[in-house]
Amino acid sequence: MVTTELKKAPQVSLLKTLTSRDNQFMRLCNAPQNFPEIFAINFPLMSGYVIQNPELVQHVLQQNYTNYVKDRGYRVLGLLLGNGLVTNADSKSWRKQRTLMQPAFHRESLQRISEVVVESTERLLKSWKEKEGTEINFTREMAWLTIDIVSKALFTTDVTDADIQMTWRNINYLNDEGSRLAKNPFHIPWSFPLPKYIKARKYIAELDNLIYGIITRRKQQKNPPHDLLQLLMEARYEDTGEGMTDLQIRDELMTIFAAGHETTVNALSWTWYLIKQHAACEKELKEESVKFAGTRNPGFSDLPQLDYGRQVMNESMRLYPPVPIVGRRAVNDDVAFGYPLKAGRIIGINITGLHHHPAYWENPFEFRPQRFKNFELKGDNRFIFMPFGAGPRICIGNSFAMMEMQLINAMLSARTEMELISHDITPIPMITLKPGDGVLMRLVKVH
Ligand code: HEM
Repeated sequence: MVTTELKKAPQVSLLKTLTSRDNQFMRLCNAPQNFPEIFAINFPLMSGYVIQNPELVQHVLQQNYTNYVKDRGYRVLGLLLGNGLVTNADSKSWRKQRTLMQPAFHRESLQRISEVVVESTERLLKSWKEKEGTEINFTREMAWLTIDIVSKALFTTDVTDADIQMTWRNINYLNDEGSRLAKNPFHIPWSFPLPKYIKARKYIAELDNLIYGIITRRKQQKNPPHDLLQLLMEARYEDTGEGMTDLQIRDELMTIFAAGHETTVNALSWTWYLIKQHAACEKELKEESVKFAGTRNPGFSDLPQLDYGRQVMNESMRLYPPVPIVGRRAVNDDVAFGYPLKAGRIIGINITGLHHHPAYWENPFEFRPQRFKNFELKGDNRFIFMPFGAGPRICIGNSFAMMEMQLINAMLSARTEMELISHDITPIPMITLKPGDGVLMRLVKVH
């Protein structure tokens, strides 16, 4: 009989964690230097494992994914998102919803969406022309742009500037408060009338108002467009023959609104923060972009040629993963890569650690877009570079986001000159990796 010896996950000390001089982000980056595969946390009211080895991650997110469900953090997120695709912990209903929504992200849909991306970016550039010489909060500008794109591309809805501002402010606040709740096992229950909880409920109600308004208007429309909203409205479940309730549609729309812009906003902010600090990269990107977005607008068919732009995006998301860590909870006892993982424990998949792991990346802290020149997201690579997650619950908006960011970057690079004002921004790992209060730039010229 073959017996394999079980390995023991090293334990991180509470004292060392509390006295560490590294900020939270650097702790995630540096963790693999001390613990290349896994470490266990055994703090009062918080116990689990953090994994940062590709085989372990593949086991949890792919090979035995049914044993690892969305954890407490996602339940907190559910206060805002309800039971949409991101938070849904029931594998049967999640699969139904995923299958239903997938066509909205297929190649043909993306081709149409690329036109929306270009039109919205063109409008943004026009508005920037009037702001030449002034300081802008680049992060806030990207929020405006991405909310505009998501609502037009997936719900064919024109949201007003006031609604865009409200969406950004409210989702931002709710994400931050949600992150704090998820990280703090001693938090006061949500039902308690704390002022910050009352504010959160008011913010959710304002977002609900916007979303239910979109649903109601669509119901009255004579010739509705073929978009994600229509897919949800016309869906009939095979087993019951019934459609989705307004609440279910609301949860999916809210999920797409939240998941579809905050991540992209942060990715674009970090990318430009890096570009502006690396003159050679800025020059190379401009040379490429001018060819496809200098005297005309770029299109879907130009994407393969915007390859340096893709490399820059990937390298930026490697250094600053927009979703720094994802969590699961083990349902049953399991053994992964020789380590026993106990039922009920939280598993943190340290995407940031994997992206800075010295065993897989040469000079991991250096910005080198060219490392992605011939990098294919296949085989083992899937589990060392995973800004969009991995396994069946990989981001549904993955190709949407890459296409959107490549086109926006090409247009900004070809048609603007900007100066970075904020230096030394400390990344704040909340649900997404935030660049503090945003990246500030001076708009020197807009063509
Ligand atoms: C740079 C941009 C983006 C990044 C880095 C990103 C990252 C991620 C990650 C890491 C996950 C997996 C979470 C987990 O395993 O727990 C995820 C899931 C998801 N993302 Fe994205 N995302 C981005 C853009 C988008 C966009 C544009 C949309 C929609 C328009 C979107 C919609 C979703 C949804 C619905 C899920 C849940 C999928 C499921 O569980 O089936 N994301 N995203």
